Amino acid sequence: MQIEEKVVVVTGGGHGIGAAMCRQFAAEGADRVIVSDINEDAAAAVAEEIGGIANTCDVSSERDVQALVQQTIQQCGRIDILCSNAGITTKGGIETPDDDWQWLWDVNVMSRVYAARAVIPHMLNRGSGCIVHTASGAGLLTEIGSAAYSVTKHADVAFAEWLAVRYGREGIEVSCVCPLGVATDFLDHDDPIHQFLHATSVLPEDVAHCVIDGIRGQRFMILPHPEVEEFFAWKTQDYDKWISGMQRMRQKLTRAKKKKKAA
Ligand SMILES: NC(=O)c1ccc[n+]([C@@H]2O[C@H](COP(=O)([O-])OP(=O)(O)OC[C@H]3O[C@@H](n4cnc5c(N)ncnc54)[C@H](O)[C@@H]3O)[C@@H](O)[C@H]2O)c1
Repeated sequence: MQIEEKVVVVTGGGHGIGAAMCRQFAAEGADRVIVSDINEDAAAAVAEEIGGIANTCDVSSERDVQALVQQTIQQCGRIDILCSNAGITTKGGIETPDDDWQWLWDVNVMSRVYAARAVIPHMLNRGSGCIVHTASGAGLLTEIGSAAYSVTKHADVAFAEWLAVRYGREGIEVSCVCPLGVATDFLDHDDPIHQFLHATSVLPEDVAHCVIDGIRGQRFMILPHPEVEEFFAWKTQDYDKWISGMQRMRQKLTRAKKKKKAA
């Protein structure tokens, strides 16, 4: 799908990757960019900068997501591209409290379901549309420091795959963005696992360029870090060997974390 003259909605558009995507959609000639975020001020600032429309929405609330879609259709006449980008993380493994699991499930996964449920009937009526999920490399591989993030990002990828298979022949293009580290507030510079991600991180603007190219090229899988394709191939070629490699990496990073704590 081309970007020019399109009406584009981006959730989590107030900061980081979402803000960079909003700026890039505007620069590429989108007709309207709806900058949606739970943080009203952040959405307003980005919208003002690019001449877009600010919207306040908590993507974990189906009512909010329905309102975002309905208001945009009323105001702009249509939605061509909807980017389910807002996402959160938390650290930890089996000790992660149930409330945190639920929070990540709602923001990283159910938000995508609510968005698809709200916008797909409209896109089917028009015979075209594009849905973009900002998932993560953690959804194809794993995030050593966070069980809940790894699981919910796998689910994010799985739902994007399902949408592509179900609606791809009915005019709806689906893309799934799976970066490794991206230099945003998301990364905690004091944590060796995140430092490792930061070492190979790209800028949010790089991700935004890849997203635009991917949408134009009608690509399902958008990989701002091309090495993810290689890592994923290793995983699927020899799962056990991949697990061993990840165990070694976890040991190395955990030792670095303990050393840092002791210092
Ligand atoms: N930064 C990374 O290293 C990285 C890597 C891979 C994938 N991702 C994914 O990219 C997406 C964006 O992350 P980012 O790095 O730009 O993070 P960020 O923290 O810089 O920005 C996230 C934005 O989402 C908003 N948000 C949070 N909860 C929300 C909610 N319930 N409803 C609506 N908006 C909400 C925040 O206010 C913020 O503006 C996420 O889905 C994340 O999982 C990030």
